[in-house]
Amino acid sequence: MANDTLTIVDNRTNRTYTLPIEHGTIRSMDLRQIKTDPTDFGLMGYDPAFMNTASCRSKITFIDGDKGILRYRGYNIEDLAENCTYLDVAYLLLNGELPTPEQSHEWVKQITHHTMLHENTKQFMKSFRHDAHPMGILVSTLAALSTIYPEAKNIADPECRRHQIIRLIAKIPTIAAYSYRHSLGYPFVYPDNDLSFPENFMNMLWKMVEPKYVANPVMARALDVLFILHADHEQNCSANAMRSVGSSQADPYLSAAGAATALAGPLHGGANEAVLRMLDEIGDVKNIPEYVKRIKEGKGKLMGFGHRVYKNYDPRARIIKQTAEDVFKITGRNPKLDIAIALERIALDDEYFITRKLYPNVDFYSGIIYQAMGFKPEMFTVLFAIPRMAGWLAQWQELLEDKEQKIARPRQVYLGHELRKVEKAKRAEQAFATR
Ligand code: CMC
Repeated sequence: MANDTLTIVDNRTNRTYTLPIEHGTIRSMDLRQIKTDPTDFGLMGYDPAFMNTASCRSKITFIDGDKGILRYRGYNIEDLAENCTYLDVAYLLLNGELPTPEQSHEWVKQITHHTMLHENTKQFMKSFRHDAHPMGILVSTLAALSTIYPEAKNIADPECRRHQIIRLIAKIPTIAAYSYRHSLGYPFVYPDNDLSFPENFMNMLWKMVEPKYVANPVMARALDVLFILHADHEQNCSANAMRSVGSSQADPYLSAAGAATALAGPLHGGANEAVLRMLDEIGDVKNIPEYVKRIKEGKGKLMGFGHRVYKNYDPRARIIKQTAEDVFKITGRNPKLDIAIALERIALDDEYFITRKLYPNVDFYSGIIYQAMGFKPEMFTVLFAIPRMAGWLAQWQELLEDKEQKIARPRQVYLGHELRKVEKAKRAEQAFATR
């Protein structure tokens, strides 16, 4: 379109610039030509926290935050959660299409056959303290896999990349389960190739002395749905970390360790654990108004509320609420649900939350289901990381195949001292005085 341009008048120089607009963006590098004189570095955008900067072009995940829409490769999240398995969805994220029955068979076979951990990795995990946080174990073990598979550094080789992708998707539930068993002092349970992806995970978590673990099908399906909901979320903090570390051509194990580290924070994947602690702190429905009052006074945040992108109800939270009902039919109702529902009702009716468009996000209800299923709060973020591995790897792969991408290296606005000199005499005098 002829008019797809932006005209900028630099009032410092009275010069006019015309920049092309493509896909609703201008290229920040086009601003660099805007200078006050030839020695000037050129204009930059200042955007702390990337509030309005697209760092890539992507075909993986679409979010319309105002309408509450989330799609992977064009499919609505509700559609995928109802009709697919997590492994179908992981395939979709990585390959762009849902697998055919033959592709699905081969994909499941490959994942199933890579779930074992090298015994060295097992020993490594055993060396953590009994009370080590499972996210710390997960992050460290992901990084340690880089030492077991040194060929993974051949990131330019698509076949090698594919192999590491399968290993990472297959092994992360095993690492997660081992970290859990370690915290309880239980022996590690080896994967069982007869079981589906979620059933095998449950087997590695909860098998005791029975010869064959049989997972409750409703719980296994609920876990799989939760995995689908968490699989990707476009350029979130951990995906950005994956891309940023990966842009240095670090291998995928190290990049994934970086992404998992970002996920661990309470403003990102760590929020589900923080929600449970918050509900514990509130303790009773009658304490909610006082708690909300404190939040509005700026004393903390309502964990599990708000989102950088969603300014409407998070569609994942809606599906999780439905899944919770299925789980509670089996486990009995988690009493925290009543506090959560009352908290949501009160917050959604409050001017503070309405004007800021703060709605429950994916983490608000996920912890309540996880707890009902028998997970400790420390495991919640690990449960987020298992499926998010598919998203991280899809983002990483897209980055490596994108000819426009280079090492990620933002600019800064330097506001520190101008050049100054060390005052040698004064320092010598001070050193002498303190002797
Ligand atoms: N409770 C109370 N006030 C809030 C909350 C909250 N959870 N979230 C945002 N606000 C307020 C914030 O104080 C600010 O108020 P004001 O305009 O008066 O200064 C306003 O709303 C805008 O918030 P913001 O901090 O500019 O929003 P952001 O886009 O930078 O932060 C967020 C997004 C998710 C980090 C934030 O909403 C938050 O910290 N939520 C709690 C943690 C949480 O649940 N995180 C999980 C996110 S979903 C899972 C994932 O994808 O990782």
